[in-house]
Amino acid sequence: MDPSIEISVARRRDAKAIAEMSRDLIENGLNWSWRRKRVLDTILHPDCVVIVARTRLKLAGFAVMEFHETHCHLNLLAVRPELRRRATGHALLKWLEESAQVAGIARINLEVRSTNKIAISFYEAHGYEVQTKIRGYYQGKESAYSMVHHLIAPEIAEQRP
Ligand SMILES: CC(C)(COP(=O)(O)OP(=O)(O)OC[C@H]1O[C@@H](n2cnc3c(N)ncnc32)[C@H](O)[C@@H]1OP(=O)(O)O)[C@@H](O)C(=O)NCCC(=O)NCCS
Repeated sequence: MDPSIEISVARRRDAKAIAEMSRDLIENGLNWSWRRKRVLDTILHPDCVVIVARTRLKLAGFAVMEFHETHCHLNLLAVRPELRRRATGHALLKWLEESAQVAGIARINLEVRSTNKIAISFYEAHGYEVQTKIRGYYQGKESAYSMVHHLIAPEIAEQRP
């Protein structure tokens, strides 16, 4: 990753910039649902992790993940277009995966627009597999692929008490 970019847990004051990146980079063409208040609530929620990739001047990217008992759900992940292909997305995803591993989480699930070939390639490059296509997942307008990455092999995860 670009050495001038640092990954850290988001602060309350990052909520506005994160919401705007979600609107512009992820939710484009949909009703904007990750507004500042929702992002702020998520930053403060004990079962959620919001992280940012920060340059000296601005946020380069961010990610939002929810922790459940045995799995995590990756809600959002984006990097500003001018800063892509510098392993920032990789660093954000690895940070989240490592924290999930420490928490004993068995798998990470996510949904991605079925037309978003770049994100699908990105996730596949990180060991995520397409599970199913969910028609109309995005406000009835667009389909999603659900993807999964097993941190613990399913046959071993099933044996856990
Ligand atoms: C998907 C996204 C987060 C990737 O961020 P990034 O910082 O550019 O990704 P990285 O530089 O860490 O890429 C890691 C690997 O992913 C794959 N990848 C990333 N971008 C790719 C592209 N445009 N085409 C093909 N593979 C790609 C490659 O294997 C890449 O490794 P390489 O550069 O050594 O070939 C970024 O493109 C983005 O923000 N997209 C818009 C938002 C979005 O779609 N988010 C996901 C759904 S919520």
